[in-house]
Amino acid sequence: MDHSSHRTPDHDHDHDHHSHQRFTGFDQQRVLDLDAEVFGNHLAAVLDSIGVPTACGIVDLGAGTGAGSRLLWERYPAAGVTCVDRNPQMLGLLREQGFTVVEANLDDGFPVLAGPSITADAVPATPVDLVWASSSLHHVAHPAQLLSGVRGALAPGGALVVVELTALPRFLSRSDEALLEQHCHAAAAAAGWNHYPDWTTMIEAAGFRATRSEVTNFAPVTPAAREYAQQWFQRFSHLAALSADDREAVGNLLKRFPDDIELEPRTTRTVWVATPT
Ligand SMILES: C[S@@+](CC[C@H](N)C(=O)[O-])C[C@H]1O[C@@H](n2cnc3c(N)ncnc32)[C@H](O)[C@@H]1O
Repeated sequence: MDHSSHRTPDHDHDHDHHSHQRFTGFDQQRVLDLDAEVFGNHLAAVLDSIGVPTACGIVDLGAGTGAGSRLLWERYPAAGVTCVDRNPQMLGLLREQGFTVVEANLDDGFPVLAGPSITADAVPATPVDLVWASSSLHHVAHPAQLLSGVRGALAPGGALVVVELTALPRFLSRSDEALLEQHCHAAAAAAGWNHYPDWTTMIEAAGFRATRSEVTNFAPVTPAAREYAQQWFQRFSHLAALSADDREAVGNLLKRFPDDIELEPRTTRTVWVATPT
């Protein structure tokens, strides 16, 4: 499989955010906020697992609404956190939270982090000792190019942390419903959602030594968890690969939201911690 140019259909959701929202009710900002609210502890557990005791210059690649940036800032309060994204709506939210914001398309490589112009693949002015890319690397068209840009930008002793959802979050606990959820995930995979390779080889080819681990987290059943589950099933209901029976079952399930559903929200993330060789 050639990962030198890596773009997946779920990537295109944020390319064409507005038309997608019109057709499916999908609101990326709300989904990211719900993920942070429901599974925020999960990212904190990921941070616990990376074993990076201090950081001064942090860059959050594809920062979104800032779920990771906020945790990073809490964990390393003396650090400067620079958020990179190409979506102006996200950049506005990040700026409001006090982060240094760089508007850049990571498809063009690692951006310059200071100065009046932003160009691809140049070494940033600030020393960077922690680069964080959570649920973002699989959106990038040329991840190998981005990773070698990260390698060039990292100060000696620095670390890169890549986080991906191992699988889509799971919510349903009753065995018949859990099976339906599996079918939905299979249909989402057929549509290319959350598609990425094991990044280990590509990260190591960029000049890192990488370790890979998985972190699983169960979340309490809160109103936010119910809304988040409902958002996922609304999106699933539009998947072309879903059978007619499953589509009907998802429709019936959605009628029972928000309250009349037994939930057990859980998610697993794969984490690569990479240090320069
Ligand atoms: C799924 S969100 C993840 C957000 C955040 N890292 C988190 O964990 O909640 C992916 C983010 O990457 C950004 N993104 C996707 N492709 C990008 C690109 N080529 N250049 C810059 N940002 C990109 C999107 O705008 C979005 O904010």
